[in-house]
Amino acid sequence: MSDLNGQAREQWATRLGFILAAMGSAVGLGNIWRFSYVAGESGGAAFLIIYLLAILLIGFPVMMSEFMIGRRSQSDAVDSFHKISPGRPWFLVGGMGVAAGFIILSFYAVVAGWALRYLIAYITGGLWNTPSEGYGSYFGGFITSYQPIAWQFVIMAVTVGIVVMGVKKGIEKSNKILMPLLGILIVILAIYSLTLGGAKEGLSFLFKPDWDAFADPNVYLVALGQAFFSLSLGMAALITYGSYLPQKEKLPGAAGSVIALDTAFAVVAGIMIFPAVFAFGMDPGAGPGLVFITLPEIFNNIGGLGIVVGLLFFFLLVAAAISSAISLLEVCVAYFMRKFSMSRRATTIVIGSIIFLIGIPSALGVDPDAPLGGLTLIGGRGFFDSADFLASNIMLPLGGLLIAMFVGWTWDKSEIMRESDFGQSKLGTVFRWVLILAVPVAILAVFINSLNQF
Ligand code: TRP
Repeated sequence: MSDLNGQAREQWATRLGFILAAMGSAVGLGNIWRFSYVAGESGGAAFLIIYLLAILLIGFPVMMSEFMIGRRSQSDAVDSFHKISPGRPWFLVGGMGVAAGFIILSFYAVVAGWALRYLIAYITGGLWNTPSEGYGSYFGGFITSYQPIAWQFVIMAVTVGIVVMGVKKGIEKSNKILMPLLGILIVILAIYSLTLGGAKEGLSFLFKPDWDAFADPNVYLVALGQAFFSLSLGMAALITYGSYLPQKEKLPGAAGSVIALDTAFAVVAGIMIFPAVFAFGMDPGAGPGLVFITLPEIFNNIGGLGIVVGLLFFFLLVAAAISSAISLLEVCVAYFMRKFSMSRRATTIVIGSIIFLIGIPSALGVDPDAPLGGLTLIGGRGFFDSADFLASNIMLPLGGLLIAMFVGWTWDKSEIMRESDFGQSKLGTVFRWVLILAVPVAILAVFINSLNQF
């Protein structure tokens, strides 16, 4: 395969490199920051159960479909659909994916910027002592100022720098050591958090469902959105990554390991956060600032060494965020690079700048007291929440619905069996029917149930 410039299309160096890159995309702020605040706002255990169901029933088949489309087409988000189904409107699914990439990265870089700001404060001394106003107001003061824009800018600049270097040199290498380290650190912190005195309450919040919560349709929408967000699904990011895969890879094992790791990260992050939330008498429904208030409390509690732990933690969180940000940017860059026959370098810089600009209102619109806090869009949400809601809870599940339908409904049976690497097994048949029926019905049911959210 060659691209328009006649160069051979890049490929992953190794199968492990591909799996690690997909894991790098999946594991990020979604597992720690977004999972814990969304679970906290949506009642904890009931949310967790629905989230796990969504991952198994919808996440796995959609991830398989994205890998299959990418590997088969060896092309970007939009062209993949053109190639496999010429002259049909399916390419619009890829177009929506690219649009979702712009929106998600625009606010993702803002939150990654917060993490970077905390990292620097642990290095330079800003967080060596408990702020006199408390961690809550410390965070509040920060997000209601103009400062987040500067940090968001730094994150975008670093992400652009890595994506400019291309798939192998940039994306594949950046994550091999840092992710295992982050995994080890959150396990240690989770164990420590259990000793803080809030273990009983924290664990029952996370694992003992309040059955009434299952009656709230909104919890389903939020859990579905979180499953898509955390697994990097629904916007062709994994189509793009799958397209750098040589034909012979086995997909179910790859998808299964990405999903297992991503889910483990989220659950461990929950065990790290919620016991501490209760130990320090905080509100689990505190919103997007939850981990930025809870974690410093934990580190503070550790004593002198806590500064080092805080530093290490935010360093690894920033690294995980950047490896995810890369995949968001790569979707947009891969598309526009081909579309306008532009160099990777120029495309990345232009697209990165546009995404930075789109993110500014999010940076200034998280909190009602922030400079743009008064601006409300979808269902009374502020700018940041509206961007997140639209992209994560609507565009990603809708994209996933259409991706599953594209494979299930337009590929014939033998193609699905072959391209999924399930072969002529029972599993292959089940997989096919899940794509044809279960995924579309489940996603539509959640959508219809939550029409009141707009
Ligand atoms: N999954 C990442 C996280 O959990 C975020 C992310 C990266 C993403 N690429 C994506 C989300 C593509 C949706 C689609 O932090």
